[in-house]
Amino acid sequence: MEKKTLFSEKTVKIGPDSGYDNYIMAIESSCDETACAIVKNGREVIANIVASQIKTHEKFGGVIPEIAAREHLDSINIVVQEAFEQSGLKPEDITAFAGTVGPGLVGCLLVGLNAAKTLALVHDKPFIGVNHLNAHLCANYIDTDLKPPFMALLISGGHTQIIDVESYSKQTILGETIDDAVGEAYDKVARLIGLPYPGGPRLDKLAQEGNPHAFDLPEGKVDGYNFSFSGLKTAVLRLVKSFDGKELPVNDICSSFQECVSSTLVKKLKKAVEERGYKQVVIAGGVAANSEIRKKIFNLENEGYRVNAPAMKYCTDNASMVASCAYFNTNTFDDIDVEVFSRA
Ligand code: KG4
Ligand code: ZN
Repeated sequence: MEKKTLFSEKTVKIGPDSGYDNYIMAIESSCDETACAIVKNGREVIANIVASQIKTHEKFGGVIPEIAAREHLDSINIVVQEAFEQSGLKPEDITAFAGTVGPGLVGCLLVGLNAAKTLALVHDKPFIGVNHLNAHLCANYIDTDLKPPFMALLISGGHTQIIDVESYSKQTILGETIDDAVGEAYDKVARLIGLPYPGGPRLDKLAQEGNPHAFDLPEGKVDGYNFSFSGLKTAVLRLVKSFDGKELPVNDICSSFQECVSSTLVKKLKKAVEERGYKQVVIAGGVAANSEIRKKIFNLENEGYRVNAPAMKYCTDNASMVASCAYFNTNTFDDIDVEVFSRA
């Protein structure tokens, strides 16, 4: 597709049909990671820099938006500079600059998006605004030859969706959570049993040491491809209380919770892909880093499906997925005046 540069209004071809190598620099700052990346032709990562704020937010037990925005301001120029250094490229080598527009924390998004817009303006290159959720899906194009159509399970701190990806730009959400997102459920249950922030990866680790059938926890009963995780969270709360201050069998609780979540997710994903008749399934989002969910999804290979999951570092927030999304033109925003938004 063709995009315009901002000052001289030259037309620049971007994407798989452009006929030459594209180098897209992208910035991601929607939550607590300040990230900058350069990706060649949507699939080959030339530079991937992530400044994590986990240490800052750990003591509060969660992300404090105002503090996160300030940290983005401190890190943004550094990550951009490091991406140029790691790639050996100069601004004039960049085909277009991309930035996450939303959903996310508004103050945080403003920092990265304005940096991306400024780079595009200063270097007279096209600007491409990207939806964070589409970017998570596009992490699956990195280091692979994957092409739509496929069925996707998007699981992050804020979202849980089954998405029918018909083409690079045509996607339909078939179902989503009616209450908590999977990552949110992980983080809340982790807090209940006394694990520090961020709870998801810690819970995952302990779960691997426990018995997944120690406790029978309830699967959320919702129609179609929708999900519900708040009942499961309450069941864990009740279970924790039943120990009445006695030592908790933490590993078994984690393992039983993880078993319940992973089997629910995979059951619905399988139903969707069977119904649509696709041969490919992918997972995306921070929770796609989860060991048990990955294991169960990859078991679908035994049933003849091609399964793809991004490498761990491209599951959680990063800018390479944003660059890939910009290249494949996955519902992008090309107007330099595009405003950040907090909710999908
Ligand atoms: O996609 P992401 O980095 O940020 C959002 O866009 O929300 O996802 C963050 C979420 C957090 O809830 C975190 O606890 C969860 O992903 N997470 C995990 C694992 N690694 C990250 N949850 C379960 N198991 C993991 N290994
Ligand atoms: Zn994310």
